Amino acid sequence: MIEITNLYKSFGDLVVLSGLSLSVARGETFSILGKSGTGKSVTLKCIVGLLEPDAGEVLVDSTRVDISNRRGLSEIRKKTGFLFQGGALYDSMSVRKNLTFNLRRHHKVTNNEANEKAEHYLTLVGLKGAIDKMPSELSGGMRKRAALARALVIEPQILLYDEPTTGLDPITSAEISELIGDMHKRFGMTAIVVTHDILCAGIVSDRAGVLKDGLLKYTGKMNELAGIEDEEVRGFFRNPL
Ligand SMILES: Nc1ncnc2c1ncn2[C@@H]1O[C@H](COP(=O)(O)OP(=O)(O)OP(=O)(O)O)[C@@H](O)[C@H]1O
Ligand SMILES: [Mg+2]
Repeated sequence: MIEITNLYKSFGDLVVLSGLSLSVARGETFSILGKSGTGKSVTLKCIVGLLEPDAGEVLVDSTRVDISNRRGLSEIRKKTGFLFQGGALYDSMSVRKNLTFNLRRHHKVTNNEANEKAEHYLTLVGLKGAIDKMPSELSGGMRKRAALARALVIEPQILLYDEPTTGLDPITSAEISELIGDMHKRFGMTAIVVTHDILCAGIVSDRAGVLKDGLLKYTGKMNELAGIEDEEVRGFFRNPL
């Protein structure tokens, strides 16, 4: 479903990605671990065409993202939910409007349909009571849930998450991770989850990899990664939160 081959991306002299390859099967959830600044967000942005790679190929559901025109990108974004780092909501819009706006931008739906879907997904993430609140009235955990509902409301086949649990307490992190894992199973979605949170990766992922020196150095099941003799990889497992 997602096939990245030999991706290169630099900003001036700063080489961020140097030959990154990754293949994620339909229905699979893959977590990307890695220290701050290693290029995890840059990788996600290349997958949705927010950044243009210098070289390499990005295929999403058999469409070349890296050479797509605006129309092609818009098709890809219709089937891809993106949960940005920090879970940015539109601050001037109510929670409901955050969802219906996203839906109406990508899909032709009536006002009623949009409202029904917004209510459905907000209920699913446990935010029914907050539907008419403004983002500024929500706690950090509620914002993450609202951002998750906003990504889900377009019923994407693919979900890309950038740090879905960062900044949350361990209990809320685990709840959100369970919610993400449940959604993937229920809807058979394909996902990439960027995270520092080893517990989250353990809950949601089928496989994971460590981004280091511009590429995915180690990939495997979480229990396989836990046994790798690399100081940095061990660091993730030593400090689980
Ligand atoms: N648009 C940009 N222009 C210039 N440099 C950028 C741009 N986007 C990212 N970078 C640089 O690329 C490097 C990787 O950034 P990226 O955001 O992918 O890191 P990350 O792995 O997501 O880190 P974190 O865990 O802190 O979120 C950083 O050094 C960053 O400063
Ligand atoms: Mg990042």
